[in-house]
Amino acid sequence: MKIGFIGLGIMGSRMAGNLVKNGYQLKVYNRTKEKADKLIKAGAAWADSPSEAANEVDILFTMLEKPKVVEELALGDSGFLNSMKKDSLWIDSSTVNPSFSEQMAVVAQNKGVRFMDAPVSGSKKPAEDAQLLFLVGGEKSQFEQAKPLFLKMGKDALHIGPAGKGSAMKIMINQLLGQSILAFSESLNLGMAMGIDKKTGMDILLKTPVTAPILDLFRSRIENNEYEPNFPLRHLQKDLHLFTETAYELNQPSPLTNAAKEVYALAKHKNMADLDFTAVFKYLHEKE
Ligand SMILES: NC(=O)c1ccc[n+]([C@@H]2O[C@H](COP(=O)([O-])OP(=O)(O)OC[C@H]3O[C@@H](n4cnc5c(N)ncnc54)[C@H](OP(=O)(O)O)[C@@H]3O)[C@@H](O)[C@H]2O)c1
Repeated sequence: MKIGFIGLGIMGSRMAGNLVKNGYQLKVYNRTKEKADKLIKAGAAWADSPSEAANEVDILFTMLEKPKVVEELALGDSGFLNSMKKDSLWIDSSTVNPSFSEQMAVVAQNKGVRFMDAPVSGSKKPAEDAQLLFLVGGEKSQFEQAKPLFLKMGKDALHIGPAGKGSAMKIMINQLLGQSILAFSESLNLGMAMGIDKKTGMDILLKTPVTAPILDLFRSRIENNEYEPNFPLRHLQKDLHLFTETAYELNQPSPLTNAAKEVYALAKHKNMADLDFTAVFKYLHEKE
């Protein structure tokens, strides 16, 4: 089976790496070529354009920043949808909005290409260790075809429903992620202002059932003020935007998410866009 992989950032490079490690023949493309060096050394073939990465492959994965980028690489000059062979399968693992995934499913179908949205839960380390969770939207038979590949990159893959439903589940998860870390940061910062030291505040908050269990994983980043990006803050703001955009499309109020999104927007303006999203603690902490 021939596989194409487009988008070799923090996540894509590691996901593609696990496919190569498992002996799959991969053609890869990334806007910044150097990010493919390690994969090429490991045996992947380089493609000079999205279109070249996609021709002749049976399955194409994309792991790109946001909807606009996916659309550009799919349909723009040297867009991959123009070169994919009939009945091949495009799996978009980028975090995008559900209506965008639905739209891509139709566009792909019109070109004779099958489509699934398969965003992932899990960050840099789970991507490295093949411990991601795939949330998949698309036809069940396609899901079954791709499942062995998902399981080379992840610990599990769940079929949620038709095209768009993987993206729907993903933005629900990241809405909670964005709110949890923000609420925790606000509480801890006020605790510190009230004279509770950071360590004690964290120890106790993290033991209470009102704190989301995942926050324990981020403790050391906040404790040591180390915000090397696992999941860049600008991507989390993007995901909250995708959530509020979807809420607008469906006439569903989302007051908390809109407010949270703006805190991340403000943090971006303090040069925190490329830091880890947990830097929202630092943003609330720093007073000018
Ligand atoms: N990091 C995480 O923890 C995590 C977890 C789950 C899901 N996600 C989602 O997965 C996706 C990728 O995330 P990531 O963390 O791997 O991000 P990243 O490191 O910023 O990588 C983004 C990818 O998109 C490409 N890209 C961005 N703008 C482009 C443009 N205008 N034209 C062509 N290519 C462009 C980048 O190319 P260059 O290398 O040339 O910049 C890179 O391949 C995002 O949708 C993110 O929300 C991330």
